[in-house]
Amino acid sequence: MSAIPQTAIKEICDACENDRGRMMDIVRAVQERFGHVSDEAMDLIAHHVGTHRVEVESVVSFYAFLSNKPKGKVIIRLCDDVIDELAGSERVAEVLCQELGIGFGETTPDGKITLEKTPCIGMCDQAPAAIVNDVIVTELNTDTARQMVRDIRQHMTPQKLVHRLGDGNNANPLVRAMVKNNIRQEGPVIFSPINRAEAIKKAIAMSPVEVIRAVKTARLRGRGGAGFPTGMKWEFTRAAQGDRKCVICNADEGEPGTFKDRVILTERPDRVFAGMTIAGYAIGAEEGIMYLRGEYAYLRPYLEDCLKRRRDDGLLGNNIAGKKGFNFDIRIQMGAGAYICGEETALISSCEGTRGDPKNRPPFPAQKGYLGRPTVVNNVETLCCVTKILEEGPGTFNEFGSQGSSGTKLLSISGNCMRPGIYELPFGTPLREVLNLCGAEDAIAVQVGGASGQLIGPDGYDRKICFDDLATGGSIMVFGPGSHLLKIASRFMDFFIEESCGYCTPCRVGNVLLRERLEKVQAGLADESDLVYLEDLGESVKLSSRCGLGQTSPNPILTSLKNFRPLYEAKLKTPDTGLLSTFDIKGALGDAKAIAGRDSVHFGEEETR
Ligand SMILES: Cc1cc2nc3c(=O)[nH]c(=O)nc-3n(C[C@H](O)[C@H](O)[C@H](O)COP(=O)(O)O)c2cc1C
Ligand code: SF4
Repeated sequence: MSAIPQTAIKEICDACENDRGRMMDIVRAVQERFGHVSDEAMDLIAHHVGTHRVEVESVVSFYAFLSNKPKGKVIIRLCDDVIDELAGSERVAEVLCQELGIGFGETTPDGKITLEKTPCIGMCDQAPAAIVNDVIVTELNTDTARQMVRDIRQHMTPQKLVHRLGDGNNANPLVRAMVKNNIRQEGPVIFSPINRAEAIKKAIAMSPVEVIRAVKTARLRGRGGAGFPTGMKWEFTRAAQGDRKCVICNADEGEPGTFKDRVILTERPDRVFAGMTIAGYAIGAEEGIMYLRGEYAYLRPYLEDCLKRRRDDGLLGNNIAGKKGFNFDIRIQMGAGAYICGEETALISSCEGTRGDPKNRPPFPAQKGYLGRPTVVNNVETLCCVTKILEEGPGTFNEFGSQGSSGTKLLSISGNCMRPGIYELPFGTPLREVLNLCGAEDAIAVQVGGASGQLIGPDGYDRKICFDDLATGGSIMVFGPGSHLLKIASRFMDFFIEESCGYCTPCRVGNVLLRERLEKVQAGLADESDLVYLEDLGESVKLSSRCGLGQTSPNPILTSLKNFRPLYEAKLKTPDTGLLSTFDIKGALGDAKAIAGRDSVHFGEEETR
């Protein structure tokens, strides 16, 4: 007898119009309904959408949230990023294993619960956090983790884990999440009150070219990381050949330590959707896609409702706001757990229903993007800024910020600080001021820009947050006294190795070699030549990788080596004796300590770094 009802697969494929371009929706639906996408299901899907089984399999095997092997009805995914580790995720992990009687990557013998680790889920301000099916569970500790497992065993209903609701729209009946916004500092742009129609009405009173000019006058640069001028990107797309054009909002937010888009989507989705609509008007597109990371699936019903209300109010659909011939609508495309899908060409591949592989450039998405159509890809925050620029005019926007970076920047601050959360600050704010605001005056290091950014030490705290100095997509991770910076760099390398799509050798192999050499340093087995090796190989990986992941993945090593070289040097063997220049007596006494069952009175202080 067939394990998978054939009719159910047919229904799912029919609901997606048997369109192979909607493969992500199809396999996600099958995964949700049956707990996995079996070989048989893949055969059936291939048959219905008219493709080869291997194509379906390549999608299923690519995304972390999809599987061809059965998993439990409930999947607990514990976030294992560096910030969660600082907040105690390792102890939570132990408790989860004890309570479930299984290790990570395993399913309980009754087949009901699966336990996994997952990279940053965008909750660093309320770590340790986990995602249970689609339900976010925050601020875990050993007690709540134990209780969580017991509750799941009892009711097998993740939504019942939400014992308290978060602030703002997290408490909306369509969200009902325990997530907190943690907005610590509101600025003039992102969270200001919004009239849902105002920006669109102002835009359609102008010509598309005038709208693009306004965005250029505001000197808006992309908030997703690369900082490309938004008006210029729109101009290229508008000028590109092609009858059908597309606007994509990048809501993949996978960079470790970044969670600002989560809060925008929760509190100001209208401003984002209005920004997409204005982009559609400016470039001449009728189609908009919001690519929402799988981890934020809990926001989807609420966002769909927001879209519906915009349609009802004539702000999406045909003849928008009464402008004859201005037709534009937006659909939400869910991701399924792949950091690389934040890279715009990989994101486009994913929207097209294939593996999230980056594409060669040129052609750029502005020329040939989604399904070969000229496409604008913009970050959530960028689109929010667009709406604000139309609401109040480019001049007002230009008043904030610094010379090369107009406006404000939303920062997601996490780690060893008193007040983790969201801060909207004008570009040009010195890092030291950021640290004062969040209560991290004693920080020994700050990772600016996520895992792919830079590790900055106290001598860099007077540097400024802006495109021309300390650029960041929004992630600021603070490390206090006692932090092990080389270990942190090594954990970031683990992340890149795991998330590389594997297409090009420098990234696939180079990152592994870099991590191995870093481990050699950490083990006290390296000499000066290994540091030269790290620098040389790091630079080559950056230069020869095909996409932004490989072009930035060596940064944790290169920037820690640049800004914290003494930490590396302290680990090197001395040339004449072959012994470590700094002998880690505490580490060496570890075994003796374990046997004696007590600490040496002489080594009460934690090792710093
Ligand atoms: C590995 C990788 C991950 C990325 N992740 C994101 C992301 O989650 N969100 C985002 O907006 N941009 C991300 N980007 C940048 C996008 O490729 C693209 O530059 C951006 O979406 C453009 O929007 P903007 O011009 O409004 O910043 C990522 C880039 C790389 C290389
Ligand atoms: S750099 Fe890495 S992620 Fe990018 S295409 Fe190459 S292997 Fe894939």
